[in-house]
Amino acid sequence: MKKAFITGITGQDGSYLADLLLAKGYEVHGIMRRSSSFNTDRIAHIPLNLHDPKSRFCLHYGDLTDSSALNRLLKTIRPDEVYNLGAQSHVRVSFDIPEYTADVVGLGSLRILDAIRETGIKTKFYQASSSEMFGLAKPPQSEVTLFHPRSPYACAKVFAYWITKNYREAYGMFAANGILFNHESPRRGENFVTKKITHTVARIKAGLEKKLYLGNLGAVRDWGYAPEYVEAMWLILQQNKPDDFVIATGEAHTVKEFVEAAFGIVGLDWKKYVEIDPRYYRPSETPVLIGDYKKAKRILKWKPKVRFKKLVRLMLEYDLSEYNLKI
Ligand code: NAP
Ligand code: GDD
Repeated sequence: MKKAFITGITGQDGSYLADLLLAKGYEVHGIMRRSSSFNTDRIAHIPLNLHDPKSRFCLHYGDLTDSSALNRLLKTIRPDEVYNLGAQSHVRVSFDIPEYTADVVGLGSLRILDAIRETGIKTKFYQASSSEMFGLAKPPQSEVTLFHPRSPYACAKVFAYWITKNYREAYGMFAANGILFNHESPRRGENFVTKKITHTVARIKAGLEKKLYLGNLGAVRDWGYAPEYVEAMWLILQQNKPDDFVIATGEAHTVKEFVEAAFGIVGLDWKKYVEIDPRYYRPSETPVLIGDYKKAKRILKWKPKVRFKKLVRLMLEYDLSEYNLKI
């Protein structure tokens, strides 16, 4: 039985990846942060090995800022695959807490890589790199596009990307980057723009909210569906040699188009509800992200299935169901 170790298991992607790997027969270990309130909602449906001896799912306290815990866990678990998904992943927030973001996102990746090197375990390493690293680079962006990061988060991800390549080149480790474009789902965090929109539209429809406050409606993003993107992460680690891959849909829409689509589905005129609040602007913005995923299609045989319209619909359907509403 293969063993996987996931940082960020309580997040959107970590939870879908845990579902996928458990379905494939893996023993799955994840680290969670100590928190004064529960932060395990997204994985609450998976029985823990503590309560069910047949379960292959184990949680451990850990943090990407704590090297000794990472070393100890890797030494005792000895996973076949390590997925480093943990991050302070909010771009806007990274301008408020840049040092912490760089510590977790940048140095956190180095801590895991070095723990693998120190312990000498033979494992494959996946780094959750981001299209945000492209920043101002002209679209479509591919594996050969030069980075021009526009936020402390993106700068930290660029470090993590390169230190992953460096450990591959210097120590011959199987260390690979997935450069994932934005991917969303009902499990998306509520302060990312897609979920903020679908969640608030559902609350407006339920009569619980009057307005939706947003920032830059002109930003262009390439939005895909998270469960399909975690499948790509797994495929990246099943290759014979480590490599870096862009994962995207190649389809681009503005935030305004997402707003129009979501309000349109429930028959409301978005102009009556949306207000611009400059607090949501970023000091420097990534204006256009459109991915070229040809390499992933050719080598991983991966391609996206859920497209923009379906994505908006499935997210909205889920949020409406929280209020016993239907489309
Ligand atoms: P997410 O929902 O924000 O989840 C982030 C995870 O990291 C959570 O489990 C969080 O724990 C954990 N975490 C935060 N700080 C940590 C720390 N100091 N030590 C250990 N864990 C920590 O993010 P996501 O959307 O699943 O994204 C997964 C990864 O892919 C992230 O690295 C993100 O930057 C990257 N990425 C995401 C996208 C996207 O569109 N979703 C695109 C490209 C790259 P808590 O639950 O306790 O907060
Ligand atoms: N969050 C947010 N809230 N974004 C807004 C808002 C708002 O009220 N109004 C407009 N936007 C715009 C942002 O300025 C940005 O251009 C776009 O909507 C998308 O914002 P987010 O959903 O926060 O995502 P992101 O693109 O900044 O970052 C996400 O994708 C990256 C991959 O490109 C995150 O998941 C990152 O972790 C990930 O690396």
